[in-house]
Amino acid sequence: MVLVLESEAKPNLMIKPFSRRQCVQKFGTAASSLGLISQTIVSAKADEAKPAMLGGSPIRKKTDHWTKWPIIGENDARMITDVLKSGLWNRLSGPITPKFEAAWAARLGAKHCLATANGTSALIIALAAMDIGPGDEVIIPPYTFAATVNAVLLHHALPIFSDTDLNTFQMDCNSITSLINANTAALMPVHLGGSVADMGRIMQIAGDKKIKVIEDACQSPLAEWKGRAVSTIGDIGCFSFQASKNLNAGEGGALLTNNSDYFEEARSFHNNGRAKPNSGVSGYGRNGANLRLTEFQSAILLAQMERLEKQSQTRESNAKYLTEQLQAIPGIMPAKMVEGCTRNAYHLYMFRYNSQAFQGLPRETFLKALAAEGIPGSTGYSPLNKEPFLKVVTTNKGFLRIYGEKHLNDWYAKNAERPANDTICKDAVWFTQNMLLGPRSDMDQIASAIRRIQKHAGALAKA
Ligand SMILES: Cc1ncc(COP(=O)(O)O)c(C=O)c1O
Repeated sequence: MVLVLESEAKPNLMIKPFSRRQCVQKFGTAASSLGLISQTIVSAKADEAKPAMLGGSPIRKKTDHWTKWPIIGENDARMITDVLKSGLWNRLSGPITPKFEAAWAARLGAKHCLATANGTSALIIALAAMDIGPGDEVIIPPYTFAATVNAVLLHHALPIFSDTDLNTFQMDCNSITSLINANTAALMPVHLGGSVADMGRIMQIAGDKKIKVIEDACQSPLAEWKGRAVSTIGDIGCFSFQASKNLNAGEGGALLTNNSDYFEEARSFHNNGRAKPNSGVSGYGRNGANLRLTEFQSAILLAQMERLEKQSQTRESNAKYLTEQLQAIPGIMPAKMVEGCTRNAYHLYMFRYNSQAFQGLPRETFLKALAAEGIPGSTGYSPLNKEPFLKVVTTNKGFLRIYGEKHLNDWYAKNAERPANDTICKDAVWFTQNMLLGPRSDMDQIASAIRRIQKHAGALAKA
């Protein structure tokens, strides 16, 4: 491999590789420890070469595999087999789900953890535990998965959309205050992409206005704000353990809280409303549903948890390295972290793509050219506040009875325009978390492919 310092790189010039020791001798330890030396490892020649989409050789060969997801070990198989053989497959009879709940609560520093069927149900349970329902409004970001909005709608409450911060991709806190009124019951920030919403501002606003905070941390296990795990900062936090997530059981979720009353309501709701233990009530204490996790999933989660810290460290370190390279490319703007974010879980690596810096090459063609180099990316979310299905709410029998036609039409109109969010949806490019689990050379290849596409953007635009 040829090592080239960014500052010294000349097109088509092969430079004799330096060992790390030679680098330190030549440029000093300070430069080395700042990561300046290791910034560019793939040669300038690779950047210059003809893009694969125009008939050149792809930067990644067919044999260069991205880290496969999920990652399993012998422990996963052993723990599942143990559950299988025990015959105790349900959380009400087996010991594994309580064990996972205790372990996850301890890992995050929360008083209570309730394992749930999935992340969507964790959000639904959280709203039920707070008795949020018809007539209530919940403020959510429009840059999120549909589950965030659906959880609110399933309670016949109204979702109100904030805008999105152009730099961080998180909820724009400047847009929240004007949305709050007497019906606002909760703020539901999403820690998007593994990063952290602006919890400083969110908690301040919620405290001032005396409203609750439910953290949708479905994408951000182990992310931290000021050293505190996300999900433990607001009143309730929710996780998803769906197949793509950093902690994965195929499906699954969890609700975390330090509030014992919310926890008891949540536990009862997720268990068909069965009465709380020691409540003096026999049978059912409230309404609810069966949203329980199975013992098999809890067993996988306990096994996967053993790898989570190490994997998170690898993602963080690769993402930091990739950001150093990508932010040097005109027109590529990696998502920044909010003030106070002390750990990013990097469920996604996100950046904004400015086609003007790529001779007008549309984002979709940029992604095709990247894919041709062996680097898969995606465009991410479309504006949730403009989803046609939301319009259905305004004609829904139940919603009409609760809110009336005029109120619903006003609600729809008021949520129609979130300009910064539209910009993010138009510009975003995502890489999935497993792409951050490989060697540094994977990051070099991503950066090199983007530089190559930029150099040949004019020709690619005409292709
Ligand atoms: C932000 C967010 N919220 C909620 C969910 C719902 O989680 P689940 O798919 O486990 O129901 C997801 C899952 O993708 C998510 O990304």
